[in-house]
Amino acid sequence: MLAARALRLIALRRAERGNRKVAIVLFNFPPNAGNTGTAAYLSVFESLYRTLGAMRAEGYQVELPDSVDALRERIVVGNAARFGADANVHTRIAAGDHVRRERWLRQIEAQWGAAPGKQQSDGSSIFVLGERFGNVFVGIQPAFGYEGDPMRLLFEKGFAPTHAFSAFYRWLREDFAANAVLHFGTHGALEFMPGKQTGLSAACWPDRMIGDLPNLYLYASNNPSEGTIAKRRAAATLISYLTPPVAHAGLYKGLVELKASIERWRGLPPADDIERASLAVVIQAQASALDLAKSEPAWTDPVPAIGKLSDAVLELEYSLIPHGLHVVGEPPSIEQRVEMLQAVADASHGARPDKSVLEAIVRGDAPEGLASSDTAASKLYQELAGIDALLARDHEIPSILHALDGGFVRPAPGGDLLRTPAILPTGRNLHGFDPFRIPSAHAVKDGAEQAQRLIEKHLAEGNGLPESVAIVLWGTDNLKNEGAPIGQALALLGARPRFDSYGRLTGAELIPLDQLGRPRIDVIITMSGIFRDLLPLQIKLLAEACFLAASADEPAEQNFLRKHALAYQAAHGCDLETASLRVFGNADGAYGSNVNHLVENGRWDDEDELAETYTRRKSFAYGLKGQPVQHTALLKNALSTVDLAYQNLDSVELGVTTVDHYFDTLGGISRAVRIAKGGVSAPVYIGDQTRGEGTVRTLSEQVALETRTRMLNPKWYEGMLKHGYEGVRQIEEHVTNTMGWSATTGEVAPWVYRQLTETFMLDPEMRERLAKLNPVASAKVANRLIEAHERKYWSPDPEMLDVLRRAGEELEDRLEGVGVAA
Ligand code: BEZ
Ligand code: MG
Repeated sequence: MLAARALRLIALRRAERGNRKVAIVLFNFPPNAGNTGTAAYLSVFESLYRTLGAMRAEGYQVELPDSVDALRERIVVGNAARFGADANVHTRIAAGDHVRRERWLRQIEAQWGAAPGKQQSDGSSIFVLGERFGNVFVGIQPAFGYEGDPMRLLFEKGFAPTHAFSAFYRWLREDFAANAVLHFGTHGALEFMPGKQTGLSAACWPDRMIGDLPNLYLYASNNPSEGTIAKRRAAATLISYLTPPVAHAGLYKGLVELKASIERWRGLPPADDIERASLAVVIQAQASALDLAKSEPAWTDPVPAIGKLSDAVLELEYSLIPHGLHVVGEPPSIEQRVEMLQAVADASHGARPDKSVLEAIVRGDAPEGLASSDTAASKLYQELAGIDALLARDHEIPSILHALDGGFVRPAPGGDLLRTPAILPTGRNLHGFDPFRIPSAHAVKDGAEQAQRLIEKHLAEGNGLPESVAIVLWGTDNLKNEGAPIGQALALLGARPRFDSYGRLTGAELIPLDQLGRPRIDVIITMSGIFRDLLPLQIKLLAEACFLAASADEPAEQNFLRKHALAYQAAHGCDLETASLRVFGNADGAYGSNVNHLVENGRWDDEDELAETYTRRKSFAYGLKGQPVQHTALLKNALSTVDLAYQNLDSVELGVTTVDHYFDTLGGISRAVRIAKGGVSAPVYIGDQTRGEGTVRTLSEQVALETRTRMLNPKWYEGMLKHGYEGVRQIEEHVTNTMGWSATTGEVAPWVYRQLTETFMLDPEMRERLAKLNPVASAKVANRLIEAHERKYWSPDPEMLDVLRRAGEELEDRLEGVGVAA
């Protein structure tokens, strides 16, 4: 296979561009939810349009539509209504043809029934979705096929892709006869098809699907962990793309007026008591209108109240938010670069250079001239000027073109621009990491500091020292931060990694109690499937640390893990090794808790069902040997001692309301804790390490902050709506994810839903805009807000509910009117 691939690459290199056939694959997940052509942080159709334009300019035979909208229309709409399909039907593969040519027919039929199957089919043929533009075919990857539980397919042995999925890739290889395929954005399903995790063979589905076809994969530069899976399992060459520019959230609407009042209040002469008292009344009213303070009772001492308010407004103003979506081939604007440099200087150096200096750098003034004789400043400005030069030019389309010439794509580390400017230039092949060096010395030190910060926040909220902490570990953050979250778990336990004389990880050791200075805290670790795949050595490290702690001859009140393990052992009569199992995850080959899919589909009645789903999926314990064994009772017992649950947030691009995985993991475990504790919730925290030294917030503080700085902030939503269809979908996802937090934690304040309704649904002009840009996603917003009301997460007044219902119906009518399959 390696030789065959090399030959195909050589053939690609030799082929004339004008004769080359290229397949570009877009994704559609979940299907039929206004989602066709989606990818993380990417404005897909604008990026595609620019890529096609550049290909045409470089000699490819590309028939380019007149506009981005026309391109999208031909792919997503086209003849879809006629076939009742999710996108344009480019061609149909007759069932007989499929039966004759499908090499793995029996295996597919065992899973999905007789050909042509139910997915993307009219009963007599299979649809290939997409459209051809000259020598470029833009196809829509078929979905996994499992409604409600698509992830079931992942890696499960004996499973198979759908007829449509296999036929799609066969059609690309054999009928369209592509010279290369470009998977467009993070991420699709191919590399998650069943088979071995590494060292794939002809019996593994990703290998069968991609064969020897050169596979290029445009991939978000901040996601090296899932990117690694695409490389390992689908032989992909990654071409990184930049995540959206970050910007300060800034203030808007009532917040601007509130800040002005606070400033006026502060500027009053000391003697002006009357004015100060009346202004305090105004400030309280303004703040309560924004749900930042209670309207009653009137403040008796406004000084601390206004001080707190002022801090809150400052946090909102200076929070970093992703600004819009990335467009491949479009470098950030001058203004955006200034904001990005500002964020990099702050996040990686704790420096706040004057905006005029950054503007001068972006204008191209020599950095040395700006710093006078200050050598530290001069060094920083030079670094920023270097970053700016890399941001100012597009490196992504040239790299795509080079890769399509069969050229070598240079390697690059993955990560966030703010902390790892070495990701620039993008347009490079993201590489992995050295598993023997995680967690790094820095991660161990940082982990101890963050753990301390978490404990302090919990104490400041009026609680005692926690006996047990539930922590969620993901692969991505650990890869990007050299294992800092692993360092936190070790610090809570009072343990550290051991390395051999070559500096390679060999296991764990305990920090003596007198050095630790507090009791060892019991840690219940739940990890993502991706963490499990990428960091097996670290699973053993954590399991060993837990076992060592349980075995240490220390008093129970100084070692909570031992205390709980001995109690479990006494009650259940198992060995100490079993009683000290604390690293939990999915069964081998499974991913996620499925709580996100239940919430997405609305297919649940009671919040406790979500917890049951979570526990079923995540109750596999990983011990010293690294093999998972299901221990549901042990997990439930461990969760019953949990005093707080938390997870880290490591990138500005991804908030807890941006993707559904946060409530799937942290939300899921929080609800499971509540059941295990007999209906008593434990506080949920987010360790925000996106900048500076890090901050710990309660989940409701985090949701409120994200709601105010993003969803309700015209700077954020206008940035999204600039990208039309995709922007509306992003807004919808935020609303759905917000409801996911209500469902799992109940920690979303009702004002969040009220203000979302006011911003997006009550204003007829806004409603009209959303409906025009993406009717499916707009209707989903209305229906989700109604669902949140029906589930009692907020209660609109009757008038508001009426408008919301009418908005939902109007959108649904429109949907039928435009003939988009619903
Ligand atoms: C992870 O890196 O572990 C992860 C990424 C996305 C979703 C869930 C987990
Ligand atoms: Mg979704």
